[in-house]
Amino acid sequence: MVGFPAVRMRRLRRTRAMQSINFKARIHPSDLVYPIFVDENADSPVPISSMPGCCRWPLRHLVEEVEKTIESGIKAVLLFGIPSYKDESGSSAYAPEGVIQKAVKLLKNKFGDELVVMTDVCLCEYTSHGHCGIIKGDEVDNDATLEVLGRIAVSHAEAGADFVAPSSMMDGQVKRIREALDGAGYRNVGIMAYSAKFASCFYGPFREAAGSKPKFGDRRGYQMAYGNQREALREIELDIIEGADIVMVKPALAYLDVIALAKERFNVPLAAYNVSGEYSMVKAAAQMGWLDEKAAVTEILTAIKRAGADLIITYFAREAVSWMSQL
Ligand code: PBG
Repeated sequence: MVGFPAVRMRRLRRTRAMQSINFKARIHPSDLVYPIFVDENADSPVPISSMPGCCRWPLRHLVEEVEKTIESGIKAVLLFGIPSYKDESGSSAYAPEGVIQKAVKLLKNKFGDELVVMTDVCLCEYTSHGHCGIIKGDEVDNDATLEVLGRIAVSHAEAGADFVAPSSMMDGQVKRIREALDGAGYRNVGIMAYSAKFASCFYGPFREAAGSKPKFGDRRGYQMAYGNQREALREIELDIIEGADIVMVKPALAYLDVIALAKERFNVPLAAYNVSGEYSMVKAAAQMGWLDEKAAVTEILTAIKRAGADLIITYFAREAVSWMSQL
């Protein structure tokens, strides 16, 4: 082994151009997925106070908002719905004229295959109690929820979704959704599974945005305990066996170890969700003048890619595209 002084690592850092050729985990706009909240009750964009720069979009502004996203080079959006009514069983989630069904139709009519439309499949935004499934007794009933998740997925597919993204963390949800989609003839609609979804405080701002905070208890009966790496890998493995086309680790920034391990172990495209709380803390620090926002976002997204994410779902997507091109 030859060491110093024959070896000098700083030779590779001597000029800006050398730094640039040595910078490997570069983000491309097509790596990014832009999450969008669609609000059936809104007439004009409703700013989300805990997520500065993000809004709940009314259906009539959606196409315009997505047009700007496409122009920036981003190819995929992930839709979340705020419905006009909620009930115990979350029936507005699979209504043929529900908010997401209408949103998907609008986008597909306008953009066709130019855009990849992904939809969140869950119940928490649609149930009166705010849990991600059907309540029986005092808990979320796994198998009763599967039936509803299948219906939601098929209704999104009918509207034209390219990918459905189940996020409720019910056991067997990927298998059930695959069967439901195939049974209804939607063999080409893909599943992006929120496979390793941790019970995280970083979803706080999202729950304000989507009005999906549980009215009682918490989500630890279905989302994972954040202190366990091996359980996350097992969740991912099971989703692959059940037929997931893309698997996901969520949140991203506090879980880079899980992303790196999953990348090493599995050959399925890997998505990472840079969630609302991760967005809001950067925005808050930037507003205080404590962080350079552009530098922080560039470094964070690069770290998520370097850890192994093939796709990054982030509220920063549009801003990041312009900042990244300067690297
Ligand atoms: C819904 C869902 C949540 C997020 C994505 N899908 C919230 C939750 O599980 O409570 C969080 C996304 C974010 O924080 O940006 N099931």
